[in-house]
Amino acid sequence: MNPQEFFDLVRARRTQLVMDVEKVVDSATIEQLCTAAIWAPNHQLTWPWVFAVFTGESRRRLGEAAADAMQARGDAEMKVAKTRTKYLRAPAIVVVGSLPGESELQTEENRDAVAAGIQNMLLGATSLGLASFWSSAPKGANEAIGSVCGFPSGTHITGVLYFGWPARDPNPGERPPAAITWFD
Ligand SMILES: Cc1cc2nc3c(=O)[nH]c(=O)nc-3n(C[C@H](O)[C@H](O)[C@H](O)COP(=O)(O)O)c2cc1C
Repeated sequence: MNPQEFFDLVRARRTQLVMDVEKVVDSATIEQLCTAAIWAPNHQLTWPWVFAVFTGESRRRLGEAAADAMQARGDAEMKVAKTRTKYLRAPAIVVVGSLPGESELQTEENRDAVAAGIQNMLLGATSLGLASFWSSAPKGANEAIGSVCGFPSGTHITGVLYFGWPARDPNPGERPPAAITWFD
């Protein structure tokens, strides 16, 4: 890849949820994406990332767990119902968690490292022609999702990632210019 191809790839990555739900993303590809994540910068080499992959019917279990947590906290019925099935919108869902650190600062830096890792995954997906979508855990459902994933208690769900083959071209998107202050 030449430098221009790299910068084009960064711009080509767009949030894209319109996917062919019937077309499988094979497990070797998912493993490759998770491996890309673990090469992100990681202060104190804490290896803070944990991954759980949901395909097939397991996607429904993930949605049910999140929806039950939302229902328990009194969320609106329509929102809860939508959550029950929302992970069926992609053939593969990867939940990426960030483990708690030994101090507040380390926990924060763990989360930063995991977020950087997720960007590696999204760029890797784009390079393979896959559509991707980074979502947060629904409010109040962090522990419920972590528990379905088998993550240790206190793990922060940094992303619930949707991956699949795109069913249409993504919106090219617009960005304001980078705000840069130069010092000399
Ligand atoms: C930490 C994080 C959490 C996000 N959570 C959600 C989410 O819950 N729902 C959603 O629609 N998009 C979510 N997004 C995606 C952003 O909305 C998206 O990146 C933004 O609209 C810019 O679009 P682009 O990715 O195509 O550049 C999240 C992004 C990040 C970085």
